[in-house]
Amino acid sequence: MRTTVGIIGAGPAGLLLARLLHTAGIESVVLESRDREYVERRQRAGVLEQGTVDVLRAAGAGARMDREGLRHDGIELRFARRRYRVDFPALTGGKSVMVYAQTEVCKDLIALQVKEGGPLVFGAEALAVRGVDGERPHVVFRHEGREDVLECDYVVGCDGFWGVARKAVPAELVRVYERTYPFGWLGILADVPPSHDELVYAHHDRGFALLSMRSPAVSRLYLQVPEGTDADAWDDDEIWRELERRFETGDGWRLERGPVTQKSVTPMRSHVQEPMRYGRLFLAGDAAHIVPPTGAKGLNLAVGDVVTLARALTHQRETGSAELLDSYSETCLRRVWQAERFSYDMTTLLHRAPDATAFEDRLQLARLERIATSRAAATDLAEAYTGFPFE
Ligand code: APR
Ligand code: PHB
Repeated sequence: MRTTVGIIGAGPAGLLLARLLHTAGIESVVLESRDREYVERRQRAGVLEQGTVDVLRAAGAGARMDREGLRHDGIELRFARRRYRVDFPALTGGKSVMVYAQTEVCKDLIALQVKEGGPLVFGAEALAVRGVDGERPHVVFRHEGREDVLECDYVVGCDGFWGVARKAVPAELVRVYERTYPFGWLGILADVPPSHDELVYAHHDRGFALLSMRSPAVSRLYLQVPEGTDADAWDDDEIWRELERRFETGDGWRLERGPVTQKSVTPMRSHVQEPMRYGRLFLAGDAAHIVPPTGAKGLNLAVGDVVTLARALTHQRETGSAELLDSYSETCLRRVWQAERFSYDMTTLLHRAPDATAFEDRLQLARLERIATSRAAATDLAEAYTGFPFE
């Protein structure tokens, strides 16, 4: 098989890149190790920045998002049994976010790709990326029990944190910046209308909790749990009781319970691999960087990367200049590090570390008070949450 751009991975990064290249008239093939059903069922975050919404619309993938997505003009911070609302449009000159699940974004992009785009091969596992330091890069992959080769002009690793693409960068050129956190998130999906119409980020002595949603009828809720927790160690009643404790306010607010339909634990990690390019190999999305989910930046960062890359490949095709391809890594990393900073700040602001001292507990509350009482501090949060513009 031969194509212009060989894309490994059909998460949001790989799928959107294939779509953007298709609209620019550039051929691609997407290899995805899992089957379609798995990719369409996988639960991930669900907050789209304004810039992400604009890109999906421009790519022709915004119709269902515009019908079913929920526009959110703020979030609530909850601490010391009090509630504080961060008003995005008022603080950012009119920006908001869209709550629309990543799985739904993937379904929409898959449907488009299957209908109009180039090959999207499910059950095709990339085994190795070769030749990216020369003129003839290729991906060795296994499909239906047979090994095959995809030859291309460029390879893009959109294969997530556990993928193979980034292993093709020689170890002596790689720099990794990483931090793991001694806690994770126990997440549930529940068939019950969300108890609040905006996301609630709750700070509590017993740990962080988040109220989010998938639709007006489905809630998504998270609890901070110790690292390595097994989701099955928590029964539904225990989960609801713990959520109730952490969300409790002094004004009689109530959390509605409902049947739990899914339960899982997500580990928390910050990770950046630099550079994001080696020869004819480009890394995008989780293959290059991970953020803890607290700031809801993972998907939005992946979108920023592939928009930058699609532009650079189009520029190269139209002008013959590799200038934008050469600056791809640097351009992406500026945005990546701002998201890393914000996600780290939100994580350390809201979670209780197992070894936190009383001094650190007090500092967290002072940081939260500062956001609640200073327009400048609240603006800083609102700007980062709604997203920085693509360069
Ligand atoms: N060959 C083919 N496909 C692979 C391989 C491989 N060797 N390894 C991994 N994949 C596939 C995975 O099955 C997955 O579908 O690559 C895809 C990577 O997708 P994501 O993990 O969703 O990563 P990305 O597209 O970068 O999206 C980033 O996803 O992880 C969340 O929170 C993160 O929201 C962020 C977003
Ligand atoms: C989610 O809805 O899954 C979600 C929302 C906001 C976050 C993280 C996850 O910060």
